[in-house]
This record gives sequence, C-alpha cells and structure tokens, in this order.
Amino acid sequence: MRLFKKATAVALASCMAFSLTACGGGAEETTAAATEAATEATEAASEASEAVTEAAEATGKDPSEIKVGISIYQYADNFMTLYRNELQDYLVNELGLSESNIMMQDGKNDQAEQMNQIRNFITAGVDVMILNLVQASSAPDVTNLCHEAGIPVVYINREPDAEEEQRWVDEGIKATYVGADARQSGTYQGEIIAAQENMGDANGDGVVKYVMIQGDPENVDAQYRTENSVKALQDAGAQVEQLVIQRGDWDQTKGQEIAANALTQFGADVDVIFSNNDAMALGAIQAIDAAGRTVNEDIYVVGVDALAEVVELIQNNKFTGTVFNDFIGQSHSAADLALSFVNGEEVNYVNMVDYVKVTTENAAEILEMVK
Ligand code: BGC
Repeated sequence: MRLFKKATAVALASCMAFSLTACGGGAEETTAAATEAATEATEAASEASEAVTEAAEATGKDPSEIKVGISIYQYADNFMTLYRNELQDYLVNELGLSESNIMMQDGKNDQAEQMNQIRNFITAGVDVMILNLVQASSAPDVTNLCHEAGIPVVYINREPDAEEEQRWVDEGIKATYVGADARQSGTYQGEIIAAQENMGDANGDGVVKYVMIQGDPENVDAQYRTENSVKALQDAGAQVEQLVIQRGDWDQTKGQEIAANALTQFGADVDVIFSNNDAMALGAIQAIDAAGRTVNEDIYVVGVDALAEVVELIQNNKFTGTVFNDFIGQSHSAADLALSFVNGEEVNYVNMVDYVKVTTENAAEILEMVK
C-alpha cells in the first residue's frame, strides 16, 4: 500500500505547477495511468527522495538538522488530519528529518493563536515553516513576519489571494503555495451529477433542485466548488434551481443539520445535495437516511476529498461520487519545497496538484491509496 501511495504521488506530482490542462484527463485515464506506472514510479519515487536527501547534503544542511515549524488551521478537520499525518511521515521517513525538529501545532481555528505559534517558531529559530492558515487573508501579515525573520514559508491548503502571491514574485519573497485548483473539483462534482441518466433530476420534474452545503466561504475552495459544480451541470444542459445555500464550515454535524432542515422544508423536491467536502456530505447522508430517502434512487450526493468512509459508500452505491483531494501529492510537494527553500533553490510561487474524479468505476483503486 505504501508503495502504491508513493507511485501515485509521483504520477500526480508530475501534473504540478501550472500544468493542470496537460493532466486534466478523465478519472479513468488518470487512475489507469497511475496503476500502469506503479512499478517505475515507485523506483522513481525512491530515487527522487534520495536525490532530495543528497541535494540537501551537497549544500551543507543535513536533513536531520533542519527545523520545521508547522501549524495546521485545526486538528479536528478530517481532511487536514490525513494531510498532517502524511506530511509528518514523509518528512521523517522519506526526507530524513528528525522528529524532534518538527514542531507541529494545532491552530485551533483561531488566527490569534496561530500568530503566537508563528512567533514562537521564529524565536525557536526554525529554518522554514509550513503553514495552513486559519484565515488566508492573514497571509500578508504572516509573510511579512517570516520575511523579516529571514524564514521561508510554504503555505498549504488555504490559498492567499492573487495580489499577495504576486507580491512574493515582485519582491522576491521566499513564500510559496501548494494546493489544488478548487475550480477543477467543483467542475468534477457537476460532471458526476450530469453523468447520471436523468442528469440529477431524481423526481423527474424537469429541474434539478439542489441544496448547497458550503465550507467556510472565506476560503476559495468553498467559493470555487460552489460556483463551478453548478456551472458544470448547467453547461451539460441541465436546468437548475437552488433551494438552499448555507455554510457548514467543513463540519459533519453542521452538514447534517443543514441537510436535515432542507429535507424537512423541501421534501421530495430535493434532487441533489452538493457539499463542498466529504465530512459535511457524510452529515447529509445521516440526514438522508433519517428522512427515509435513498441515495442514487431518489436523491444524489456529491462531496470532495475522497475520505475512505465515503469511497466505501460509493462502492456500495450509497453515495453518488466525490473528488480525490490528493493530500499525498500535496503534502509531499509542500515538504519538498520546504527543503528546496532551505537549500537555497528557486521554487515556483504557486504549485497545484490535480484532483481526481471518484465514482464506482475507480473507487477500489482510490480506496487503496487513501485507507
Ligand atoms: C478540504 C476540506 C477541508 C478544508 C480545510 C479543503 O480543501 O476539501 O475537507 O476542511 O480544505 O481548509
């Protein structure tokens, strides 16, 4: 399983950095290619990680001496838990960092708390930071703090705005972002619904009526997924109507409450539940069960992330589809870029890892990677 993970990360890593269109093929192609390339890519992965280690040695800094400060916006987040575990594992077991030099902190969804953590990292003399901001809008302040202290920063998951990213380029600031283009995940969600025989019109009244469960709308992931999922469905020719749009802050319990209220209010009118992530969609599934509705018969549900629990439900025809948010590729890239910074190498300012559509056809392969 580990080997497959690495192989896929390498296959997906090759899609990074402004090359989304080149790698934007269908889910089947992407997974088939990843599977075929497994053996070669596994070798390439270990060579690549040896190369990183050697490069670090060549420029002087022994990886076991490198100190990294990491702050995750909130440990309680399901997706970021997968991400941070993979990040820690890769830093230690692939890149050779010492566990005691990795300072990983829970931002507790509190920007002031996270600012303190960042100040403490500076005092502790870390070589580089990997930051999942509580509020992406704090990026300019955080970047300035780090820049003044001479510490490069790799932002992950919550993308600073374009103006801030441009400032890094213009002022030669050592900051970069690793993530995934949320527009792509939204488009894939809409395409999954459009691929149903009735294009998501479960009750056959001619209009796809949907409930939109949003993450934290400050986040571009929430904004783009909301917009592009519906757009893709409309582009495919469906007539749509929004019944409810509400923020669920990426949280399962909130997702359950939003879906339960919508189902009580609109009953059989609800054809589709779009959720900006899988955690909230799992909440929606609880509400759907409680309301006596049946997924893929009288209602459809799509999420994003490909949490193992969701992929299993897809395999059992109890969840319509999701989109793999590649925490493996993203965390590895973030770690590689952090080391590149420490070694004084040039890095891209924005680094994107592709999403993968997940349906019954490729659920088994995706499950191998994520479980
Ligand atoms: C993921 C969500 C997660 C959020 C945290 C998104 O990319 O899809 O599951 O809660 O990031 O910022």
